[in-house]
Amino acid sequence: MKVDVILTAGEIKAEKIKDKIVVIIDVLRATSVMVTAIANGAKAIYPYKDIESVLENCKKSNSYVLGGERKGLKIEGFDFGNSPLEYTKEMVNGKDVFMTTSNGTRAIESSANGSKKLFIACFLNIESVVNKLIEENQDTVIICSGTNDEFSLDDALCAGEIVRRLAEKVKDIKLSDISLGVKIIAENSKGIENTLTGSKHFEYLKSIGFYGDMNHCFSVDKFDIVPEYKDGVIKN
Ligand code: MLT
Repeated sequence: MKVDVILTAGEIKAEKIKDKIVVIIDVLRATSVMVTAIANGAKAIYPYKDIESVLENCKKSNSYVLGGERKGLKIEGFDFGNSPLEYTKEMVNGKDVFMTTSNGTRAIESSANGSKKLFIACFLNIESVVNKLIEENQDTVIICSGTNDEFSLDDALCAGEIVRRLAEKVKDIKLSDISLGVKIIAENSKGIENTLTGSKHFEYLKSIGFYGDMNHCFSVDKFDIVPEYKDGVIKN
């Protein structure tokens, strides 16, 4: 199994993901929201790059909520922002979630064509993702969504932890230099929050009042699910 890592949504290229198993990470906070919503009973998640597509496509569902953010904040007229704590059982059970975020949903849409399978990952479901990748046993590309086309340490740390766990369990694994790099970050991490303190998006979310999300987003292996994106929809 070869494992490569892409560090931002802007660096996704068709030839890099062609026929590969793809894992999308946006720890803060899009994939943490998706995993939480599915774990809390959301029927499906429909991710889009832009607000117009959300508003247009939600008309096809008879039971839905709209979620997402721009600059980290709820979009006008939407039901929820991008805090995973909003996507409780009470709010999403049995419903479709139509969402758009600045980086995470863009990374998903950009990887849809050409990849073999596409899984959604964050710290909340990391061990289940690792086990799924071992089961698939094929060349894998882990995509860090990043923030506005810049490297984001939260995603790299999570990617590194996936690589670290894979390398422990898979004998004939071949790691690209970026995979090795993020694995070293994970091996040297002294706790998620400690590692991320001072990093740009973590500090930004804190500054706009979302420190409360961190405890949830940094809970490791809270959910035993591996949502998959197929034909425009994310389901477990
Ligand atoms: C994104 O997709 O850019 C993020 O999830 C932004 C956020 O933290 O809400």
